Formats: sequence, C-alpha cells, structure tokens
Amino acid sequence: MSEAENLFADGEAYERRIGRWSRVVGEAFIDWLAIPKGLRWLDVGCGNGAFTEVLIARCAPAAVSAIDPSEGQLSYARTRPGAKLAEFRVGDAQALPYPDRSFDAATMALVISFIPDPIKAATEMMRVVKPGGWVAGYMWDMPGGGIPLEPMYRALRSLCIAVSVPGIEVSRRDKMREVWEKAGLQSIDTRVIRIPVVYSDFDDFWQSFSVPEGPSGQAIRKMSPLEIEQLKMRLRDQLPTGRDGQIVYEAFANAVSGRAPS
Ligand SMILES: C[S@@+](CC[C@H](N)C(=O)[O-])C[C@H]1O[C@@H](n2cnc3c(N)ncnc32)[C@H](O)[C@@H]1O
Repeated sequence: MSEAENLFADGEAYERRIGRWSRVVGEAFIDWLAIPKGLRWLDVGCGNGAFTEVLIARCAPAAVSAIDPSEGQLSYARTRPGAKLAEFRVGDAQALPYPDRSFDAATMALVISFIPDPIKAATEMMRVVKPGGWVAGYMWDMPGGGIPLEPMYRALRSLCIAVSVPGIEVSRRDKMREVWEKAGLQSIDTRVIRIPVVYSDFDDFWQSFSVPEGPSGQAIRKMSPLEIEQLKMRLRDQLPTGRDGQIVYEAFANAVSGRAPS
C-alpha cells in the first residue's frame, strides 16, 4: 500500500474529518476560476469525491474524469448522488492514464502536498488539457497554519507527539507558483482562499478529527487512553470556544491557476 493509500484509505472517515471543509474551499476556488460551463474536466486526486461533487454542481461540465490512487476513497465517491456524471478510476497524478489534449480543464484539489514530484504532476495535467486549457489547484497553507486541522496539530505538538505531514513546503503560495512555472504553464495567477471553520461544540470537533484517517488520525490511533485524555484537556484549553460552546476559527488555502501554451 502506498503512503497516500495509508493516509487516505477510507472515504467515509475522510468525509467526517474534513470533507465538509473541502467542499467550502472548493466552492470558493471554482468561483475564483470563473471558467465557462459545459467543459470536459479532469479532477486529479479526487479522493472521496467531495470536490468532484462541487465541480459538477457549479460548473455544469459536459464530462468529468476523476482519478485517485485509493480504491477505498473511490468506492465512496461512486456512491455520491451528486457525482454520478463522473467517471472514477484508480490513477497517479504523475502518470495520468489519458491521451494528450483530452480535457478542457484539469484541477488538483488539496493534493499537491501528497505527490512526490509535484512538477511532474503539473506537467502531466498540462499534457492532458488542450492548448489554452486550464490547469489549477489549491492546498491548505500548511506552513502558515491554514489547515482546518491546525488546532489538532498544535495540541499534538505541544504534547511532543509527532505528526508526519508530507510536502508542507509546496503548499506555500510562492512554491505553488514556482511548480506551475517550471511545468511550463502560462498566465499564472495565485490567491489565498479563506473560509470560516465552525464546530457546534467540542464533541463535534473531537468526533471529526479523531477518526483513524489522515496524519493526525493515525497519530491518535497510536496513543494510549491516558495520552488521549491529555490531548482532550489540551484542546479544551486551546480551542477558540464561545460561550455557547461553539468553536470558530479560520482556515486558508493557497490556490494557483494557469493556462497550457496555445
Ligand atoms: C486531502 S485528500 C483531497 C481529496 C479531494 N480532492 C478533496 O478535495 O477533498 C488528498 C488526496 O490525494 C490523493 N493522492 C495522494 N497521492 C496521489 C497521487 N500521486 N496522485 C493522485 N492522487 C494522490 C489521496 O489518495 C487523497 O485522496
């Protein structure tokens, strides 16, 4: 099993942990791209289809192909009522299983940090879109603390529990631009997307992030019951909690878009 499959093997767990925020940031990303409707799209690293569903709802595409290395994620994606249009298949961003010029637009939603060779992936996306086609993506700003899981990471770090998050540096806005430039894309633009993250109470937060999925879920799985109690206490101290028990903070992602040479 690859590292990606290890981290993201269960589509339902992903949905509980972070799928709701994937959708919110995905909507803002699509609004920013402002690409015409009725196009042929490729969704790279589609995971459990959280973004694919948003793409279909907002862009009225003519067709959507979606790939991910994790069959566990794909089986969940295939059950989504709003993603019936998409053709889901197993694949790797670094060797896309499509002929040249197959799509009008290719996106990579919250994926770039998990890819060993991001420039190769961007080059592949450029290869499979037609000349002038769109190639775009976004990733939580991990060095800046923009990922919705940041409070959990901070609490784990404060207890000296290591969380191994791959590819942190490439989620910087300047690095994402650099990857697009090195791949040969043109008319490159970047922006920061900010979203509110809201949990109704501590249990809502805990149940979302303690599922055994992703880097923090895997770290929690290895903790003793005593360590878990300590972690909960640390979180209760640190989380921005209102008088009504609601937990509210901001998450932010860096987005990049470019066009394939004509
Ligand atoms: C954080 S999830 C994002 C899923 C979805 N795009 C979303 O917006 O919710 C990252 C996804 O990247 C996938 N991934 C990891 N390595 C990959 C690779 N080499 N090629 C394509 N996808 C990959 C993982 O399997 C996982 O589903």
